[in-house]
Amino acid sequence: MRLQGKIGIVTGAASGMGRAGAIRFAKEGAAVGVVDINAPAVDEVVREIKSNGGRAKGIVADLTKDADSRRMVQETAKEFGGLDFIWNHIGHPGPWKVEGINMSDFDLAVALNLRTLVVATDAAIPLLRARGGGSLVYTASTSGIRGSLKSPIYSMCKFGVIGFAKSLAKRLAPERIRVNVVCPGTTDTPMLRTFTVRPDQPGAKGKDVEAAVGVRGTENPLGRKAQPEEIANVALFLVSDEASYVTGAAFSVDGGTTA
Ligand SMILES: NC(=O)c1ccc[n+]([C@@H]2O[C@H](COP(=O)([O-])OP(=O)(O)OC[C@H]3O[C@@H](n4cnc5c(N)ncnc54)[C@H](O)[C@@H]3O)[C@@H](O)[C@H]2O)c1
Repeated sequence: MRLQGKIGIVTGAASGMGRAGAIRFAKEGAAVGVVDINAPAVDEVVREIKSNGGRAKGIVADLTKDADSRRMVQETAKEFGGLDFIWNHIGHPGPWKVEGINMSDFDLAVALNLRTLVVATDAAIPLLRARGGGSLVYTASTSGIRGSLKSPIYSMCKFGVIGFAKSLAKRLAPERIRVNVVCPGTTDTPMLRTFTVRPDQPGAKGKDVEAAVGVRGTENPLGRKAQPEEIANVALFLVSDEASYVTGAAFSVDGGTTA
């Protein structure tokens, strides 16, 4: 097992890639803090992990709140006796609008794409240090590598995620804390629907979302959407000791979109 004896956290773990990651990490031997705002879905993921003989703790948290971003770290460490990694996967599409933007939409995007990452990282560093090192993985996007026509605020945040991770990688390397990023492309989750037909974009009403997602899914060299597990596989590598010489990297997992 690739994560035997490790203790970690996955945020946004009740759905999509985060769910796939939490389940996979537990199968590989990690004890996992399963963090999300959706309580019934958190319970379901924890049940699934436990029914396969894995270890997990469900933590219902609103990651727009600093106290919750800290609490998830403390509760996981307390439950399992330390911390080795976080896959800080949570994010938010943000608004389509810039002209006429509602700044509370901007604040929500910043809270979930950036702020919670900083707070959780602050809480985690002493715990990782106490274990003699660890791994922090953040989720950016192809929109953190190139501009996004539909999601400029999101793109702004995801460029920031990569800048933060690369900087932190340099600062924390002497303590053997590795910091990396996964940059998913078109991945078949609920959030993909929002990215494809932005609810606040003029003309969005009445659009066939699934048809648009179908088309979008073909618009990359591999010609299909990713399944959440295909992104979780890369996060698994990055939180594991197999990635012992990998830090400050942003991994495109996008079917060739940004090639
Ligand atoms: N799906 C894609 O195509 C795609 C592409 C690139 C990057 N991403 C990134 O992947 C991550 C999202 O993953 P997904 O597509 O698996 O999403 P998803 O839609 O499957 O899941 C999002 C989860 O976030 C949870 N959540 C929402 N608000 C929350 C809050 N305030 N506190 C705690 N949890 C909250 C939801 O309950 C849900 O479980 C984001 O960082 C996103 O930017 C997604």
